[in-house]
Amino acid sequence: MKDTLKILCTAYGPTGNEYNVAEIIKGMVAPYVDEMKMDAMGNLITVKKGQEGGKKIMLAAHMDHIGFVVTDIDDKGFARVHNVGGIRKANSLYRRVVFENGVSGILAAENGDDANDRDMTKLFVDLGAANKEEAEKMIRRGDFAVYAPEFTELSNNLVAGTAMDDRAGCAIQIETLKRLGETKNEIVAVFTVQEEVGLRGATAAAFDVAPDMGIALDVTLCGDTPKGPKIAVKAGEGIAVKILDNSLICHPGVVKAMEEAAERAGAKYQREVLTAGGTDAGAIQRSRGGIPSGVLSIPCRYVHSPNEVVSLNDMEDGVKLLVELLKA
Ligand code: CO
Ligand code: ZN
Repeated sequence: MKDTLKILCTAYGPTGNEYNVAEIIKGMVAPYVDEMKMDAMGNLITVKKGQEGGKKIMLAAHMDHIGFVVTDIDDKGFARVHNVGGIRKANSLYRRVVFENGVSGILAAENGDDANDRDMTKLFVDLGAANKEEAEKMIRRGDFAVYAPEFTELSNNLVAGTAMDDRAGCAIQIETLKRLGETKNEIVAVFTVQEEVGLRGATAAAFDVAPDMGIALDVTLCGDTPKGPKIAVKAGEGIAVKILDNSLICHPGVVKAMEEAAERAGAKYQREVLTAGGTDAGAIQRSRGGIPSGVLSIPCRYVHSPNEVVSLNDMEDGVKLLVELLKA
């Protein structure tokens, strides 16, 4: 799973421009699914057929990565940008960003700017261009950029990298399809788009798929770093079974099924109560007449930074739990 994760984390795919990631995933899952299609928004919808009497279960992991869009290029050749998704300026200063065509730039801020506010107007990308004309030969207004790819193995089976949110969820979904084998249930594994700007891809996909149950795979915060966020979730302590976040209160029946599957599979898990944020499950739950939904979360340090840290052990627990849950 580490190799899959590395490929996914270092692939270019900002919110709204996920096609490159979708192409990579298509190649990875093709041997394990019966059908694949891409919808008009760019969601990659893969289907593993079940048998009579089985349920239709939708899985969702988002392919998009938070990034930047060029709003203007000034006379001196510096590109002004706005965030696409929840980017913090403090996480961005003096970081390298890359555009789809491979052009790199350094994010910097005007002198005296407060890195702690969320005002992006004083942030700019230094492309090394001498003037506007030169810059415009490299990039155009409306082009997207993401933090330059990173992937580093730390000790204790922790890995750091770009876009763990939510390529780690994509990797669990891919690995689950690989290991699942025949099931009574029909599994519709969706690799969604535009989660970071309001669960937009999952909203469309859930309506189309019309599942009996929805499960999102996404990262969550960790409270295990010095003065870290106040949440009782730790990296390396197992996959997290979400109770609630700002987008949904998970269906108690789904939570119970997840915890029972964890026990049966011998997967380590912890409960997660997240007092902010949201996931694709929030969109799935509210689709049509309402769909029982839940979330398996990968504990992640420094979410929405260029080096998000997750535990490969937690991801492995996530696969074990999910395979058990889906085959039941
Ligand atoms: Co996110
Ligand atoms: Zn996410």
